[in-house]
Parts: sequence; C-alpha cells; structure tokens
Amino acid sequence: MVDGASGVRTRPLNPHFGVEVEGLKLSDVASGSGYEELRGLFEEHSALLFRAQDITDEQHLALARRFGVIEDRKADERKPGETVGVSHVTNVQEDGSLSGEMDLHTLHLKANFLWHIDSTFLPSPALTNILIARVVTTSGGATELASTRAAFAAMPETMRERLRKAVFRHHYSHSRAQISPELAKLPMFHKWPEQRWRAVVANPLNGAEAIYVASHVWSVEGMEEAEGRRFVREVLEFCTQPRFVYSHNWTPGDVLIWDQRAVLHRGTPWPWAEPRKLASLCVTMSEADGLAALRPALAA
Ligand code: OGA
Ligand code: MN
Repeated sequence: MVDGASGVRTRPLNPHFGVEVEGLKLSDVASGSGYEELRGLFEEHSALLFRAQDITDEQHLALARRFGVIEDRKADERKPGETVGVSHVTNVQEDGSLSGEMDLHTLHLKANFLWHIDSTFLPSPALTNILIARVVTTSGGATELASTRAAFAAMPETMRERLRKAVFRHHYSHSRAQISPELAKLPMFHKWPEQRWRAVVANPLNGAEAIYVASHVWSVEGMEEAEGRRFVREVLEFCTQPRFVYSHNWTPGDVLIWDQRAVLHRGTPWPWAEPRKLASLCVTMSEADGLAALRPALAA
C-alpha cells in the first residue's frame, strides 16, 4: 500500500495499471468530499477498486453525477418527468426467475463477454462505468479489465503509427451479431447510426495515449472489411495479453470504476442457474474529457 497525503492508500491491481483504494469512502464522495482526489487517481491509474462499500442506489447516482452526465440510453422511451435510474447487469428477471441460457436477454449478457468499451456506438460515448456488486455467484463471473494505455506503450512504433492514423467505425449491432444474428436484429441495437472514432485517444490531462477499440468496431476506414476486421482482431489480441489484464472476482460491496478512454473490459461466464447482479452507471464523456479529440478530422 502506498500512502497519499490525505490518508488515502493505494495498492496496484496489475503492474501496469489499476489500484485498490483504501481510506476513501465512496458514500462520502457521493455527498461531496474527496472527488478531486478520486478523479486524480482515475486519470493516473485508469481503474479503481473499492471494497466493502455500503452504497445505496441514490448514493450510486450521486457519485456518478460527480463525474458528469449520467448516460441514458432509454431517454426516448421515458415518460415526462421520469429520470434515469441505476441499471442492472443481471440474469435475474423482473419476476425473480433467471433468464434461460438461450434467451435473447442471456445472449445480450454474453455479448458482454467480448472485449469492449461501453457505449462507443453512442454519439457521446461513456467516460466511465461505476459497477457495484450486489449479488455474486459461487464461481465464475469475474469482470476483466485490460489497459489499452499500457498496451499502446508496449507496441512496436510501426503499429502505433498505423493506429494513430486509423479511424474505427462502431455499431451496436456488430457486437451482438458475433453472438447471435437474431439478437443483432433487435431494434434496440439499431437506434444509433454508426459512430466514427479515432483509434487512439490521448488523455487531455497527462497526454498518455491509449487505444480506443471495442467489439462494436465493424470496419476500419480505408480498408476492405475483412482486412479491417483482421487488423482490429490483431489490435484486440495485443491489448488483452494477460500482462495487461486485471481479472476481478467480485464480493458484494465491491465497486470498480474505470476509465473507458484507457481500458477495455469484458464479463466472464458463470453457472447459469445462479443469480448474478451488478449495479451499473455509465457517465457520458464531455468535451473536457477529450470527446473532441476522439472525432476524426474529416468525414470519410
Ligand atoms: C458492463 C459490463 C461485464 C460484467 O457492465 O458494461 O460489460 O462482468 N459488465 O458483467
Ligand atoms: Mn460493458
């Protein structure tokens, strides 16, 4: 553990990125103290783990609002006055039963097992996801994070130069199509047109470059579709080598907060007969967080 000036202590999760944080209660950050320090750790380490946090949904929402505007993918479906709430990544259905292994909902959860960054298919993608373990399984169900900042730094310069010039095209349905063509057809995966993003993003505060890639990338500008997919596969394989990965086995009350500008993530399978429930809030990337720099200079 490394001691900070304020009594906050950190311990590395992986030699390249991520820290476990002690001495900072997220409920305090939610009610207004300690956000600056938390944000400093977020910018520097890309992923933060807090254990044994006692946080209500209201506090979860308040914590997310410190980072910015809470993402609302269902804004168009809401009734007037209805506000966004906490989302759940879970196989527990409204009536309490578990979704069947081949249900479309389960297939949607399985699409999370592909390495991705959240919401790259939205006109304004996510800056962070604040994930809290509510119900965990007896085995499996780890969430894995991979540092695309560390991976970029370790790449041969020729690949880095290629990536700095590349533009990736993201569409929600593409990640779903890799799991099931039927799933990919659902209207919820066709609400947004494709989004074009630079393949490399620099952190606006410290300049550290990272790769912005996801399971949602279906094409690379200026390449044949098959060639582009090969390139994306190669990039994803490089970034997700075990040395750049932290795998988190959940205990209820654990909270993971990661920087989507520098980290890929994925879920992993668990015994389908067991309930698993993570509470999730994504916060939208603002211009100050580097959204403008993600936009390619010219339209294709
Ligand atoms: C997510 C996600 C993975 C998991 O919440 O965005 O990808 O382990 N979760 O459930
Ligand atoms: Mn995700």
